[in-house]
Order: sequence, then structure tokens, then C-alpha cells
Amino acid sequence: MGLLDKLRGKKADERPDEREEAPPVPVKDKITAEERVVRPKPAPAVTVRQVPSTENVQRPAERRTSEGPIVCKDGIGRPAPEPRRVPVQPQTSKGPVAAEKKSSPRPAARHTGPVTRPPSANAGSIDERTEEVGIIYGNVGTSTFSCRATAHMERSEYIMAEHEDCGKVLCQVGNLIRKTDLSLEKTLDMSRHTDIQEIISAQVDVVGYRDDRGLLQVPRTTFSAGKPVFKANDALIQSVLGLRTKEKSGAYIGLLHGHGVPVYLDINDLLGRHACILAKTGGGKSYMSGDIIEELMKHHVTCMIIDPHGEYSAMRDIGRPGDSRFGVVPRGYEDHINEFTISKNTDGLSKPLRFTLKTLEAREILELTRTNDIRAHLPSLRKAIDHLRERQDSYSVRELIDILYKDEDNKNPMLITELEYLDEIGIFATRGNRVDELIEEGKTTIINLKGVPPDIQELVVRRLGTLMFEMRKLGAVPPMMLIIEEAHNYCPQQGTAISSRALATIASEGRKFGLGLMVISQRPAKIDKNVLSQCGTQIILKVTNPNDVKAIASSVEGLTPGMTEDIQTMPIGIAMVVGAGIQAPLLVDVRPRESRHGGTGVKVLSEDD
Ligand SMILES: Nc1ncnc2c1ncn2[C@@H]1O[C@H](COP(=O)(O)OP(=O)(O)OP(=O)(O)O)[C@@H](O)[C@H]1O
Ligand SMILES: [Mg+2]
Repeated sequence: MGLLDKLRGKKADERPDEREEAPPVPVKDKITAEERVVRPKPAPAVTVRQVPSTENVQRPAERRTSEGPIVCKDGIGRPAPEPRRVPVQPQTSKGPVAAEKKSSPRPAARHTGPVTRPPSANAGSIDERTEEVGIIYGNVGTSTFSCRATAHMERSEYIMAEHEDCGKVLCQVGNLIRKTDLSLEKTLDMSRHTDIQEIISAQVDVVGYRDDRGLLQVPRTTFSAGKPVFKANDALIQSVLGLRTKEKSGAYIGLLHGHGVPVYLDINDLLGRHACILAKTGGGKSYMSGDIIEELMKHHVTCMIIDPHGEYSAMRDIGRPGDSRFGVVPRGYEDHINEFTISKNTDGLSKPLRFTLKTLEAREILELTRTNDIRAHLPSLRKAIDHLRERQDSYSVRELIDILYKDEDNKNPMLITELEYLDEIGIFATRGNRVDELIEEGKTTIINLKGVPPDIQELVVRRLGTLMFEMRKLGAVPPMMLIIEEAHNYCPQQGTAISSRALATIASEGRKFGLGLMVISQRPAKIDKNVLSQCGTQIILKVTNPNDVKAIASSVEGLTPGMTEDIQTMPIGIAMVVGAGIQAPLLVDVRPRESRHGGTGVKVLSEDD
């Protein structure tokens, strides 16, 4: 039984844990006016005629190319429809805001200015009239049908078809094809006046409608051929997809692709069922996670970010103004952030992250060094630890080294060299950070691991992961979200990292104790499948590696083959999202950041003036 079938008979609000089998969603096929006039080269310009229709006559559109004017019209003088354009308001182009420059002063700590206001979806009624965009033709089914486009139509766009018994039904455009009578042979002797008959056909998938009880249904009888289809209005989209405005408990992440409907992730669901953000490198993972973290901060949700590249400090600063249709007001989050770093020379913004050594056994300490001969060093190190434990409550790496210096064992010089390496990193101290120092209710703790060796990073993730899990069990820290960047390094599918077990435990049991996990990775195939499969919310941006695509296809429920294909061609700024209150995979135009994004690449050459 398909997921969609399982969902039928339940109210949208009652099934946060299930996803529907959705119609193919995304993505790229935007039929623009320019495409309409593309001709085989070096053929001369021609007159393009669309197949006649008896309805919906529109004003002719005139286009110019370098080859001269081309008049696009159908057999009865009907024009190729004008492309639909999303209104984009002009941006202020002042360049990076002052706060981005190192020398400039930081913004005021407390944000009191205007706030982000997602555009409200057109609150009109489902019955509101919209533009006609096509006519149903051919063999018509209950879940799919073909339609001839009579106006601009884009792949993945939502449209509405009237059904005799069910009324207004939400549908989604799948593949589009432009059928023409221009054969290969005909291109050989094309002249300026060659007529091309063309017609655009769309494959349409039926999403469904809400019945009187608010239940999602799909028609059980077919639609009728010859009936018009219309643009779906926002009210119908919101109602059928269950996209409600949730300013109090929702994280605003962007607008439904191609429509002005704001999309919110349910924050309770996000924390309660874990989440993942997957994309190829440079695909926009950190940008997207920054959007979510901003929303969590605004809702006073406590977070901890494992930040291996030191990108998230930039969230203190104000971001650049973005596309105004999202209603995002730039701001910084200085007053919501606590940052910790292992580096001995902290910059004043971050505090030192320190652990006590006394909870580590000799083998665990040796695992953090680069030695291949753990067994050879175990006896001397155990002896030194026992010696210190008998005499004092806590001890440092330096004190261990001093004891080993006094020992006559000839293997000690090598062991001492390894311990000197640990001492150099400076992560261990006689007094570690207190929990209430690391976690402040409603604030975000950034663990900046930039430049820290991988084994030490894993140790940090293990210790903090275990600590947060234990503290949540005791209720000693508030419910919180643990965000792990480059998660494939901390819970790999092949082999183990020091942190593997801690993260697997949080993935499987964290939800019971209010500890949410958000894993971010550029290599979905390389993350422990047990962790990935526990993520109830999936945010997928562009992924091209075939193994990664396969890993996503096997871990995301409700992903159709069409969507899997689309993931590989999505442009930056579009995400496929499912979970956290979104029942079927949706395409979302990701909102601009409020705060500064720190994940910009390094330019090898400077740009010419
Ligand atoms: N939604 C978006 N809107 C505008 N720009 C974006 C968006 N998403 C990403 N970008 C831009 O794309 C670039 C790469 O984004 P980002 O740093 O988030 O990628 P990433 O997937 O985290 O990469 P990496 O794997 O290297 O960490 C950034 O410079 C960012 O400005
Ligand atoms: Mg990144």
C-alpha cells in the first residue's frame, strides 16, 4: 500500500509522522520567452504558429532576436503566452554591510529593529478565480492526465482542475514537452517564412483535495477531457498541502517554489524527530542550516553547533539585504550566541573549551594520540594515572608527563612525545567547562573546531554528545538541538569514529529526552545509515554524486524517481523539503539569511576592477 493511500482517511493535522507519496515535484524546466524563439542554427527566422484553440484568445507577443523579428502566433492569431514573471523588488545594492568588514564596529547586541515578516499567502478563498492555463486531453486517469498548455506553465507548478464530483482538485505539472511539426528533413530547406506548428503538452499529477471533514482525498473517477485547468490559488495550495502559517511554532524557511506561499517547519517536529541537510559541496547546506538556526534562536530554542570550519561565528553579524519578496529583514544574533574554541589564544569573542582528564582511561587517552602501539604504552600510562588518582582529584596532561619522566621505563620517551602533542592542543585541564557555562537556555553554543586535528574533533563531539544526552536525561539542560556539520566525519558509515557511538545513541534515543539532532553532510552515502534513517525531516539541496543520490533515494520516503532525477539539477537556492509538518516532498525557494553567512569560499585571484 502506497504512503498516500495510508494517509487517506486521516486529517493532515493528525499525521505529523507520515509522508505522502507525492507527485513528481521539481524543478528546472522554465519555459521562457527566449526558449520559444530559439531556432536551429543557422536557420533563418521563421513564423511559429501554435495549433488553434477555440478558447482563451490572448494578445500577440512580439519578440526580437539578432535575426530579426519573429512573430509567434497560432493558427488563429493566438500568441505564444507571455512568460510568467515573479515580481522581484529592487534591492539596495550598497554591497556588504558595514558589520561584515573586520575593522567596523559590531552591531548593537540586542536586536530592537524591524523583524522578518514572511509574506502572508493570498488569504483569498479556494473559489477565487484564477487564470486558465491549459486543457485536458487524451487518455485521462484519476491520478494523472495530459493537458495542452494554453498559457505559461512550469514544471512542478501547482494547477487546479475541476472534477465533476470532487470540485477543485490540486494538481502538479510534471514533464512538459513542446511538440512541433518541424521534422529533421524540413530543417534542410527552411526559409524565413517556414511555418512551424507547435503545441506544449504537460503531464499532470493529481495531488488531491480536502473533503468536508478536512481529509485529503484523490478522486476515484476520472477528470473530463476538454475541460480547462487553472493556476492554483494560494488558498487551495495551503489547504491541500497543509501549509499553515505557524509564526509561533514554525521556522520560516522560504516560499513554495513558484508560488508566494510561505513554508514553515514545525519546530517541535524538527527537534522531536531529528533532521538532515544534504547537498554536494557548495550546494547551500550551511546557508540553509543558518536559516533554521536563526529561526530557532528567534523562538528561544537552545542549540549547540559543532562547527568544524568556524563558519557560524559570522551569525553575530548582520547579513546582506536579499530578495524582498521573502520579507527578510537583515539582523545579527550577537546576543544569542556563546562560542567556545580549543585554541589557546581565544579572540575575546570565544571562551576556551576544556575537558577534565580524570574521566578518561589510559586506553582512551592513547587513542587520542598518534601512536600505533597502544598496547606497548598501556602499562606505564595506567601506572602513572593510578599514581595521580591516589593522590589528587584531578590532574593535567603535564602532571602525567612529569610522572612518566620519573619512570625508568625505556618506552616512556615515545609516550611522552605523544602526550606532549595532547598537551599542546590544550583541550585538557584540571578544571573543565561547567554544563551551565556551555549551555544557556534559549541561546546557541558554537563549538568552533577550526584547525583542530580530526581525532580531537571526534573526541569533542563524543564528549559533548554524551554530556548533552546525559544532561537531558536528568533535565539539567533545556530541550535542545545538536547541529553537526560535516556529520560524515563524526558518524561514518564505514569504520568508526570516536564519536560514532554517541551520535548513534542520540539518533535512536535522543527524541525521548528532547535532544534533537540535525546532521549536515556533503556525502550522504558516507554517513551511518542508522543515523540518517532516523532523520524525520529531510532537506535536500543539489546532489550529483550517484552514490549519494542512491543513499538519499533509499533513506527518504516518498521520493519518486522523477524527484530523484530533479535533485541532481536543482539550482542553488532551491531545497526539497519533507517532514516537520510537511507531508509530501515540496520544493522551497530558500529564504535569504538575516545574519551573515560565513561559509564563503576562498578566492585564489582577486577580481579585476
Ligand atoms: N539560498 C541561497 N541564497 C543565496 N545564496 C546561497 C543560498 N544557498 C547558498 N548560497 C551561496 O552559495 C555558497 C555556498 O553555500 P554554502 O556555504 O551554504 O554551501 P555548503 O553546501 O555548506 O558548502 P560546503 O560543503 O563547502 O560546506 C555561499 O557562498 C552562499 O552565499
Ligand atoms: Mg558548509
